[in-house]
Formats: sequence, C-alpha cells, structure tokens
Amino acid sequence: MSRPRVLITRRDVPQKALDIINDKCEVDIWHESFPIPRDELLKKISGKDAILCCVTEKIDKDVLDAAGPNLKVIGTMSVGHDHLNLEEIKRRGIKVGYTPGILTDATAELTVALLLATSRRMFEAHTEILNGGWKKSVWSPLWMNGWGLLGSTVGIFGLGRIGQGVLRRLQGFGVKRFIYSGHFPRKEGEEMGAEYVSFDNLLAESDFIIVTCALNDETREIFDDKAFAKMKNSAIIVNTSRGGVIHQDALIKALKTKQIRAAGLDVMVPEPLPTDHELITLPNCTLIPHIGSAEATTREAMATLTATNIVAGLEGHPMPAALC
Ligand code: DGY
Repeated sequence: MSRPRVLITRRDVPQKALDIINDKCEVDIWHESFPIPRDELLKKISGKDAILCCVTEKIDKDVLDAAGPNLKVIGTMSVGHDHLNLEEIKRRGIKVGYTPGILTDATAELTVALLLATSRRMFEAHTEILNGGWKKSVWSPLWMNGWGLLGSTVGIFGLGRIGQGVLRRLQGFGVKRFIYSGHFPRKEGEEMGAEYVSFDNLLAESDFIIVTCALNDETREIFDDKAFAKMKNSAIIVNTSRGGVIHQDALIKALKTKQIRAAGLDVMVPEPLPTDHELITLPNCTLIPHIGSAEATTREAMATLTATNIVAGLEGHPMPAALC
C-alpha cells in the first residue's frame, strides 16, 4: 500500500520530528533556507495527504484548492492559528493539529525579557556603546534612565495560558497591582491576585500593558488611536501575541507624539518587517523578530507534537492536540 504523502514547509524541522513522519510517510521537504514561497506552496501541495506548516504559511481557499481532495491533515507548528482559514478547512473535513501549552513558558519568559528590555531601554543602551554615546556620557545621573516595575500597575490583555505565565513570572518584581481584561473574569486571575477590569480601565490604569491575546475579529487592531489616547503618557506596551492586534500606524503616531512612552514588539505587520520601516527608526520602540517560542527544547517539542498530530490524523487516530 502506498504511504501517505506529506509536505514539510521548512528544512530545519528538528530531526526527531522528521523521524516520526519519515517512519510512516513519504516526505517532500522544502530544502531552501527561506520559507516556502507562495507559488511553490501552491505547486507542491498538490496531491499531498498532509502538510506540516508554520505561522508563515497562509492556508486559505487557494491553497486548499491547489491541494485537492487528498489533503486530510494539517499540522501547524504553532499555537496561533490565524494563518489558517478554519471555516474552509472544516467545511472540507480536514483535521488540524496544533501545539497548545508547549510554548507557554518560553513565550511568557520572552515576554518578561521584552518588557524589561523596553522599560530599561536595553537596546538603546547597547546602541550607545556602539555609537560612542557611552564614551561621551561615561556615567551620568540621568543618562539611560528607564522605568522599573516596583510599585507599578501591570495590565494584561488576554489572561490565557501565556498571560498567566507572564503574571506568575512578574510576581517577584514588586508590582503593586495586576489587572487584566478579556472576555470574562478567570479563576486563575483571582488566584494570582489579579483584578478583572474593563478594556477602558486597563488602558487608563496600567503603567505597563502586556498583550497576550489571540488575534481574531474582536481583537484585530483593538489598540487603535482611541485606545492609545486613553493610555497614560508614561505607559509602555509590550506585544508578543500577533502584530494585527495593534493598529500599527496609530502606535507609530502614539510613540512619535509621546502619547505613550514606549513599545516592545515581538510581532508586527508585516513580518519580516522591511529594514527601512518607520518603526525601526523610533528610539522608544524595542523590536525583536517573532521569537516568543524560539527556545531550543520548546521548538523541538513543538515539532515533535506537530509530527505526532500529523501521523495520528493520517492513521485515523485522535490527535494529541487537535484544533478541529
Ligand atoms: C505561535 O505558536 O503561534 C507562535 O506565534 C509561533 O511561535
């Protein structure tokens, strides 16, 4: 009997995961160092039984049409799934596996790192070493002053797994008050001493706003001009969810006019951000390239779970982590 055919859209998928798929399937792997281009994806997916993809591959109607009726399983190496047209996928009876839980710790840790890098101006300070600024200032009382968490109010937008992980990690920093906003109050929030507030109150009261929600029709560009106008001028916003949650032009305006103090972004629109993008020119914006879950053990576990999801789906068994 012929083995199922699986398209893998990256060449650097950890070997352990490749072994799981290779053992049971015929693999077509994209061998270039860059992500599979759209036209190649459309060609290569034709006739495949499954695909292992990442957040960079938009799996929409065109891709599903190009795949044809053989496609039974999609394994995305991510917890986020805004790159998948779930309505269309479900309509065609295709199963989807994803990687919830596994990247919570890595992403929460990175969020805290980005918060500190932004609030204590670490990248700006590093630039001062490179551009001779340190030589001029040597050590000066007000030079490179940032703003600490001690006594602050931290607001978390989206207290899911990652938001909770951030809150837990920040408990040793002397934060005065944790508040959060989202669909509904969560018992985990209460257990950790965080107060559920409205979105408007989160905006108005937070010194630091941490965005860890999913991107969907309700959250798309929810941080817009109006939202920034409600924030303190001293507020710092950190986003490790999806770039689309923030209206980026509104953010740029808020940073330039000092409507808010600073931003730390792991995610933006588009990704990768062009090297001449305005965001890069703003000293009060700390940027890192979507590396929330980029931690070695985590990435191996994500890949392994994705491979296991795919094989289970192809064999007609329940997936360890099924999205649909
Ligand atoms: C996810 O899993 O959704 C991340 O954004 C990729 O690490």
